Amino acid sequence: MQGILQGKRGIIFGVMDKNSLAWYVACKCKDEGAEFVITNTDKAIKLAETNLIANELGCKVIACDATKVPDIENLLTEAQQTLGGKIDFILHSVAMSQNLRRHRKYPDSNYDYYNTTLDVSAISLHKILQTCIKTDALSEGASVVTLTYIASGRFMEGYGDMADAKALLESIVRNMGGIYGQLRKVRVNAISQSPTHTRAEKCFSKVEYFHKYADKMAPLGRATATDCANLCVMLFSDYTKGLTMQTLYNDGGFSQTVLSGNFMDSFYFNLK
Ligand SMILES: NC(=O)c1ccc[n+]([C@@H]2O[C@H](COP(=O)([O-])OP(=O)(O)OC[C@H]3O[C@@H](n4cnc5c(N)ncnc54)[C@H](O)[C@@H]3O)[C@@H](O)[C@H]2O)c1
Repeated sequence: MQGILQGKRGIIFGVMDKNSLAWYVACKCKDEGAEFVITNTDKAIKLAETNLIANELGCKVIACDATKVPDIENLLTEAQQTLGGKIDFILHSVAMSQNLRRHRKYPDSNYDYYNTTLDVSAISLHKILQTCIKTDALSEGASVVTLTYIASGRFMEGYGDMADAKALLESIVRNMGGIYGQLRKVRVNAISQSPTHTRAEKCFSKVEYFHKYADKMAPLGRATATDCANLCVMLFSDYTKGLTMQTLYNDGGFSQTVLSGNFMDSFYFNLK
């Protein structure tokens, strides 16, 4: 049986290791018949198991710092040469905050780090899409997906300058989606994912508590990395041709819940 991404060509940013959300997405894309390249910074490729992972996935790795336009231009050219045509889908799974890594509290953010957080975690999507438009690298009706988090629009202690980056990212999704939709029917969407164990997440404090909280509060429990990959694949496919400029909450219902019975029960038990 043919997969729903059969014949599609993609670029997947952000595979660092086998915990990365992008790794789950890459595996699912392969299962569904897509051909793709994976990409990360030179440093990440050298540090991590990226080449081994690429062997396992049967795909090429192309180095690209997503904040550098010449790198993006090179990536788009090489990816099209490797895959044999225009690109049908892109996963932008890229984020980094030196303020969070160095445990700087939000009011005490270092502004050089702050600028880098915005550049890496949000403006990089703008740069990728701008370069795609200028070089006409995407096929008509292509699909671009980025990953975000609910703290883009709500106060969450400890999420620091990444909250601002995610707010900007979601705005770029709307504005670039509006433009690119009219130009080439390209869809641009964000998935707001439940907290999931990955390397990026390690810089947040008290992560275990937070996972338990999200698990108890969400009526379906936290959405897993596999759930995230399944949704990405659906967004890359032709089954979602009418969907663009959205932030979709893949969070087990967390974003629509003020209080759940499951959470109340565990909270009450802990109080006693
Ligand atoms: N893990 C979670 O709980 C969670 C929840 C919601 C959203 N997200 C988002 O999912 C995305 C992927 O994160 P993850 O949790 O899989 O962690 P991860 O650390 O595996 O992925 C982050 C990736 O960004 C890459 N990156 C950093 N700087 C880059 C640059 N300049 N150019 C290109 N790539 C660069 C890293 O090398 C890494 O591969 C991020 O946008 C993150 O904010 C994660």
